[in-house]
Amino acid sequence: MVQGMEMTKAAGFDEDARKAVYRAIRERRDVRRGFLPEPMPDDLLGRLLEAAHDAPSVGLMQPWRFIVVRDIGVRQTIHKIFLDANRQARAGYDGEQQQNYASLKLEGILEAPQNLCIVCDPQSSQGHQLGRRTMPETALYSAVCAVQNLWLAARAEGIGVGWVSILETNQLRHALKIPDHITPVAYLCLGYVEEFAAEPDLERAGWERRTPLKSVLAFDQYDSGWDRKGMMP
Ligand SMILES: Cc1cc2nc3c(=O)[nH]c(=O)nc-3n(C[C@H](O)[C@H](O)[C@H](O)COP(=O)(O)O)c2cc1C
Repeated sequence: MVQGMEMTKAAGFDEDARKAVYRAIRERRDVRRGFLPEPMPDDLLGRLLEAAHDAPSVGLMQPWRFIVVRDIGVRQTIHKIFLDANRQARAGYDGEQQQNYASLKLEGILEAPQNLCIVCDPQSSQGHQLGRRTMPETALYSAVCAVQNLWLAARAEGIGVGWVSILETNQLRHALKIPDHITPVAYLCLGYVEEFAAEPDLERAGWERRTPLKSVLAFDQYDSGWDRKGMMP
């Protein structure tokens, strides 16, 4: 402590508020099924977008841009792009795993009344390059922070969110008229849902299991055991 300077600690949230934050984190789920047809009111969607827009960003560049997709024709186009990409993804697996893959529900593009495409302008001059000379990829990381903010706020509001990455990027660009210098980051399906599952859908389907925190935690240096074990069987 600097002599003569009083150190004060900032207060954390009160207990109920703290519990609510951890609850939103723990109970957030990727939702692909059970979307209800009722669209979200504009003020609720607005709150979710404000939460996304409050995300941290490298150099305060705020590189995210939000494209709300409600039109059924546009969603049908995106859904076809998904079906194509999903067919190809399925062909990459063999035997039993291919059957398992085929049984997974991996999107809710048509069921969710609103979709949201979050894109990133990685060359935006906002932020004056701070942090990006060394790590240009931090523009994209910033946009992902916006996705996570929205995902958590949505859980607190009772809105399901599902991230669809099984889309060929150029086809997605074409469908939404996204120019070449802009990077599509996340295509999300959003809506009221029947329920939030207690565990990830992929765990329930037997596709993958969550690892315990201790298996991915090291102190002071990288754990080479991670490579020997390989995190996947
Ligand atoms: C970058 C990213 C891309 C994802 N893409 C898909 C996808 O295309 N389809 C899908 O069903 N889930 C997708 N997910 C959701 C994950 O499968 C899910 O987060 C994971 O299984 C853990 O489940 P939880 O989110 O319910 O905790 C994606 C998640 C992330 C973070």
